[in-house]
Formats: sequence, C-alpha cells, structure tokens
Amino acid sequence: MTKIALIVAMDEERGIGRDNDLMWDLPSDMKFFKTITQGQIVVMGRKNYDSIPQKFRPLPNRLNCILSHSPQLNAPGCLVFNELSDCMQQLKGDARTIFIIGGGEIYRLAMHELSIDEMYITRIEGVFDADTFFPEFNEQDWRVSIIATQRKDENHSHNFTIFHYCRNN
Ligand SMILES: NC(=O)c1ccc[n+]([C@@H]2O[C@H](COP(=O)([O-])OP(=O)(O)OC[C@H]3O[C@@H](n4cnc5c(N)ncnc54)[C@H](OP(=O)(O)O)[C@@H]3O)[C@@H](O)[C@H]2O)c1
Repeated sequence: MTKIALIVAMDEERGIGRDNDLMWDLPSDMKFFKTITQGQIVVMGRKNYDSIPQKFRPLPNRLNCILSHSPQLNAPGCLVFNELSDCMQQLKGDARTIFIIGGGEIYRLAMHELSIDEMYITRIEGVFDADTFFPEFNEQDWRVSIIATQRKDENHSHNFTIFHYCRNN
C-alpha cells in the first residue's frame, strides 16, 4: 500500500504562514524537507504552489501534484487534480511515499479525509502572527520521536525541533 506522510513546520500557536508566505528562514529545516521528500510525491494546494518562487517549481526530483477547483490551472510539469480523492486514486499503488505538504486548507482536508501513516512536524519556538494554521489533532493517536534539534545560531533565527509521528496501530 502507498504510504501517506505529512510534513509541516509550525510555531507555538500552530501558525504556518502569513500573506501566502512562510514566516521564517530556517535553512536546516528546509534541507530536511528537501531530503525527506526527494524522489517521492508531493501534494499541495494551489496557494502553496503559487507561493513557491517560479524558479523553484515544480519541486525537482519529485512528482508534484496540485489541488485546485480550477479546471484550467496552468502548472507546468505538475499534475493538477480537482478532488483529493481523484489524486489518491491515481497514485494508488505507487511505490513512492505521498507527502502532503500543505498549506492550511490541504492539511485540514488530508487530516479529515485520509489515513495519514506518519507526520514530520517541525515545532518552532516563537509566535509569528500567522494567518494560516495547522489543525489540532489527537496526540494520543501517535507515537512520537525526535529527529533533530536546532539551536538558534547565525543562520537560524529560532530554536526548533523536528518530530516524527507514527500512527499507533
Ligand atoms: N509552514 C509550513 O510547513 C507550510 C507548508 C505549506 C504552506 N504553508 C503556508 O500555508 C499558506 C497557504 O495555505 P492556504 O490554506 O492559504 O492554501 P493551500 O492549502 O495551499 O491552498 C488552498 C487552495 O487549494 C485548493 N483546494 C482546497 N481544497 C480543495 C479541494 N477539496 N479540492 C480541490 N482543490 C482544493 C483551492 O485552490 P483554487 O483556489 O485554485 O480552487 C484552494 O484555494 C501560505 O502562507 C504558505 O506559506 C506553510
């Protein structure tokens, strides 16, 4: 069965973005995102896709899937789906992991409609005045381990920790 994962970075109030952009520049978290999604499938909302600078999209070495209600969305090099269920149907049986990579609407949709196998959640110390948030979920349903911790330094404006969540069987 195709594995479904989700990856997100959020602040202490579950904030993930503002004005359709990220609110921090944390290179080692970005590197983690790039490494873990490499060679896999990424599924994102149209607004998240729009927020990626043109020169960086589609995200290289990954199958990029965009969700939009617009039938004529122009997203070169990407697959566009009008329904999450159609997207999942098409990817069914793929040996690669499907990564749900946001933003807020797509995280909410995926948490509601899919059975997510694992989550990679970066928790950043601080509050960033977000306008987009990651949904609440029941922590009891998951086994949690720490993947990495980054202290504030010349390249990282905030402390953060990357957690791995595996669904309890
Ligand atoms: N911190 C993080 O880890 C992280 C990760 C990703 C994104 N972000 C941030 O999140 C923000 C964007 O999130 P967002 O919630 O505004 O938007 P989004 O989830 O990226 O995209 C929303 C769009 O997805 C499409 N969509 C939503 N539900 C759909 C459905 N059921 N079927 C088909 N298409 C559907 C619609 O596109 P149409 O309007 O085209 O119909 C909708 O406008 C930005 O600030 C971004 O920087 C943060």
